[in-house]
Amino acid sequence: MQLYERIPNNVNLSEDKRLQRALENWLPNYLNWWREMGPDGFQQKDVYLRTAISVEPDGWAHFDYIKMPDYRWGIFLKPAEKDAQVGFGDNYGQPAYQEVPGEFRNSLRRIIVTQGDTEPASVEQQRELGKTCPSLYDLRNLFQVNVEEGRHLWAMVYLLHRYFGRDGRDEAEELLQRRSGDSDKPRILEAFNQPCDDWLNFYCFTMFTDRDGKYQLAALAESGFEPLARTCQFMLTEEAHHLFVGETGVGRVVKRTAQLMKEDKDGDARNLDGIPLDIIQKYINFWFSY
Ligand SMILES: [Fe+2]
Ligand SMILES: [Fe+2]
Repeated sequence: MQLYERIPNNVNLSEDKRLQRALENWLPNYLNWWREMGPDGFQQKDVYLRTAISVEPDGWAHFDYIKMPDYRWGIFLKPAEKDAQVGFGDNYGQPAYQEVPGEFRNSLRRIIVTQGDTEPASVEQQRELGKTCPSLYDLRNLFQVNVEEGRHLWAMVYLLHRYFGRDGRDEAEELLQRRSGDSDKPRILEAFNQPCDDWLNFYCFTMFTDRDGKYQLAALAESGFEPLARTCQFMLTEEAHHLFVGETGVGRVVKRTAQLMKEDKDGDARNLDGIPLDIIQKYINFWFSY
């Protein structure tokens, strides 16, 4: 099977030999990274997952059982708008950049690498959580978030490979070499070096850190560099579910605590093995402060 048939995309991968070659080299390293750092203990299990297969609002996702390493990591950009313009700054109103302008090359590369670095980092942070999931429902949500963060890495690597030449390819390799919490090769942003090793951490992470990521993506979705803007616009479609997981997760924990406080004669959730409010508050403070 050809590479471009294995990678669902709307970036004309079958016609772009240079991009194919770059991805061909990167793909095995990505899969090695996923096997080494992806969800521990579940790589050979069939998981019911949503896969992005196009960008049409009425049919962009496909649901099926799949083994996570066989997930069809795709490259999708929201379709180009006719006459897109730069929306801010000195070049306001000029045609949006279709290639990287020389004067912005370094800063754009930095922004894309930093965004890209968070995606695999969160998969690494969450890799042990499957073993302690509170329910099958939560387990599915976790893996859905994980494979989509993996796909978001693909989205950023596509931009690096397609628009940044040699430098971009080097950066794409390094995205697979850094490790969350590693003292020699840590991830770039500190929130992504913190352990996320229990489910209240996970809910708070998806509630606050993914939310921060959403604002970041929403800003990048306005970029004058059009391929970046269109990539991020599509990523936001997937991100909505991550925030839902966080918000409803924190909500469920708080609700259960409140029930137990009512049940206990001293109003203390601890007595009934619940998570007391002051502990929940600590978790919230921790993730909120990054
Ligand atoms: Fe993401
Ligand atoms: Fe996310």
